[in-house]
Order: sequence, then C-alpha cells, then structure tokens
Amino acid sequence: MTGGTQRDKTVNHFLDIHKTDPADLRAMIDHARAMKGARHGRKHGTPDDDQPLAGHMVALIFEKPSTRTRVSFDVGVRQMGGETMVISGADMQLGHGETIADTARVLSRYVDLIMIRTFDESVLAEMADYADVPVINGLTDRTHPCQIMADVMTYEEHRGPMAGKKVVWSGDGNNVCASFLHAAAQFGFDLTFTGPPQLDPEEEFVGLARKAGSEVRIERDPAKAVADADLVVTDTWVSMHDSQSAKERRHNMLRPYQVNDALMAHAKPDALFMHCLPAHRGEEVTSQVMDGPQSVVFDEAENRLHAQKAIMRWCLGL
Ligand code: CP
Ligand code: NVA
Repeated sequence: MTGGTQRDKTVNHFLDIHKTDPADLRAMIDHARAMKGARHGRKHGTPDDDQPLAGHMVALIFEKPSTRTRVSFDVGVRQMGGETMVISGADMQLGHGETIADTARVLSRYVDLIMIRTFDESVLAEMADYADVPVINGLTDRTHPCQIMADVMTYEEHRGPMAGKKVVWSGDGNNVCASFLHAAAQFGFDLTFTGPPQLDPEEEFVGLARKAGSEVRIERDPAKAVADADLVVTDTWVSMHDSQSAKERRHNMLRPYQVNDALMAHAKPDALFMHCLPAHRGEEVTSQVMDGPQSVVFDEAENRLHAQKAIMRWCLGL
C-alpha cells in the first residue's frame, strides 16, 4: 500500500466472484434476468421505467482496450438514469506518478461508483481500499468477474441451473478461466481444463474450486476432456497482458486445443459454446463453431449489459 491511511468502511465492492457471497451472486443473476425481461422489445436507447441510478455519476477507467465492457457499462448506467465518464488511464495523473490511493480518494469526492480495467490486480485492490465508493473489477491480468456473471446468466437462460454441470475450458488458463474457476466454487459446477501444462490455471484458483467441492480436472487430451461436456469455453491465445513476442510460441502450444466441429462432436449433443470475445476466428475457435447452433457468444455479449446493471445496483444498494 502506498500514499496514506486506509479507512475503515463498509462498501460493496465487486472485485472477484470468490470474494462475493454466493447468495448475493445468485440474487444478481436473477435480478439481471428480470431487468432483461422488463426491457423486452425496447430500443436500446430507451430508459428503464425505474431510474435507480438517477443523480449518480459513474467513472469507467480503462488502462487496456475494450469494446464490450466499455459500451455495456456506459449503456447500462444510462438506461438506469445515471451518467458516466469514460477515462483512459493514460490520460489521468494515475499514469504519471499520482498514487492509486490518492486517485481513489479524489474520485470518491466526485463520483458514486468506479469501474476499472487494469493490469496488476494490486491496482484494483488499492483503489478499493482507499475509495469511499464501490469499485468494480472490469478485468485485470488475473481475473474477469463481470464476464463470468454474464456467462452464468447466459448458460442458465438456455439450459437452466449451472449447478452440477460440466464445463470444459480449452486453451490458455488465463484471467477469464480463473473467474470461471471462482464461479465453479460459488455456483457448484465442475470444470475440466485442457491445455498445455505451461498454461495451466494458477494452483490457487484450482485449489479454491476444489476446496468448495467442485471437481476440477486437468486433462491434456482435448477430445477426452470434452467428453460429456455441457459447456465448452475458450478465449484468445494471447491476452492483452501477454507479451507479443511470445505469440508464435503460444500459438504452437495451443493449436491442438482449438475448438472446432471435431472437438465439439465429443461434447453432449446439447452442449453450448462460449467465448468472452474478442475472438480470433481460425485460431482458438473456428467460424463454424462461432456461428454454429451451439454458440451463444452474442447472448453472452448482450448479457454483459444486464449482468453489470445488476452488479452496479448491488454495489450501490439500489
Ligand atoms: N469480453 C470483454 O471483456 O470484451 P472487451 O475487451 O471488448 O471489453
Ligand atoms: N483474456 C483476454 C480477455 C479479453 C476480454 C485478455 O485479457 O486479453
């Protein structure tokens, strides 16, 4: 910690799925589905009937690029009657030597909620420690909880409760995979990871899910891993925090784990396919799978909007 004294306060931050009470997570998913239903057939720009965020200002801070997170948070706040400011980390004094603690205390004097996408998760933690207002994790190098809330919502819309289901993650055991493992623990599903040993998910995340009673398997053979899967998930082979110089090596290691029709044929016939997007068609997933009948990738993208509206309302107690 740098830059001052941490204050003792109770604020509903949304920092990670394993740090949030399972009953609260369940309530957020149900609330998101109710809010989505209430908007059925409306044009995107029309406001929600209730305006729970009226008079609220939300700061959306991005230290990495974003399409979905940026637009879905911005639209979600506006639908709920609030206002947003989207700020690039590089344009703030944060990128020029001001401490995170001081930034958090200053922002707390102006805005009611902070969403931040950053690199090192210590930035998120320090922001939350020093902010008087709720802080939401919009992705770090290690986790992406808002994405997985949308993914759980999407699975349940299509197939009912996730408890007891078999999820297979194929590829890089990255930040999105980590939040899936957190969700396995909190929502009670099992997860099989298939990928090269160099890119296994962190032991800490695997251990958390196992401790909570989820079955977590590591299976190097992708066809065996996918057998009987209810849901197959992948993500980019090179994340925003990965060095571009490692690209070729990562591609070579990950090529056997591409999600294609041959791999999907090993899953249950009604298995779904998910990808948080952006996808690199022809690399981690083929266009046939992305655009095929089992793919729900655009529902996932839409549900970022509804899930995050529920997360923001939970944070603000609205
Ligand atoms: N899935 C996701 O977070 O997308 P963006 O990087 O476009 O926000
Ligand atoms: N694993 C990807 C997710 C992007 C939404 C990344 O961190 O770049």
